[in-house]
Amino acid sequence: MTIYTKTLSDRAVVIRIADNGPGMPEAVQKRLFDPFFTTKPVGKGTGMGMSISHQVITEKHKGILKCNSTPGKGTEFVIEIPIQQS
Ligand SMILES: Nc1ncnc2c1ncn2[C@@H]1O[C@H](COP(=O)(O)OP(=O)(O)OP(=O)(O)O)[C@@H](O)[C@H]1O
Ligand SMILES: [Mg+2]
Repeated sequence: MTIYTKTLSDRAVVIRIADNGPGMPEAVQKRLFDPFFTTKPVGKGTGMGMSISHQVITEKHKGILKCNSTPGKGTEFVIEIPIQQS
């Protein structure tokens, strides 16, 4: 897993988190941020991890959360958060 951070012209910070895991097919990527969506077995995942992350980043921080994923290769999440809110 790789974590990369960068400051964008004193306005925002960018954090990229990449893994070399199984990646996600299109159908999973579409529902990734839906509350209670999980591909884990019954009783394992709550399906809340990514929806809460999305909510905190977009609503609380007014930022952006994007996902790039290739099945069989891995996944990269890109988080952009403003340093100051107007
Ligand atoms: N880095 C990743 N690589 C591959 N699939 C992922 C990744 N992150 C999330 N997913 C997919 O998105 C689904 C939803 O993720 P989310 O974190 O919301 O819930 P979860 O991981 O299933 O449950 P919990 O976070 O409660 O353990 C996962 O079940 C999985 O299918
Ligand atoms: Mg999770």
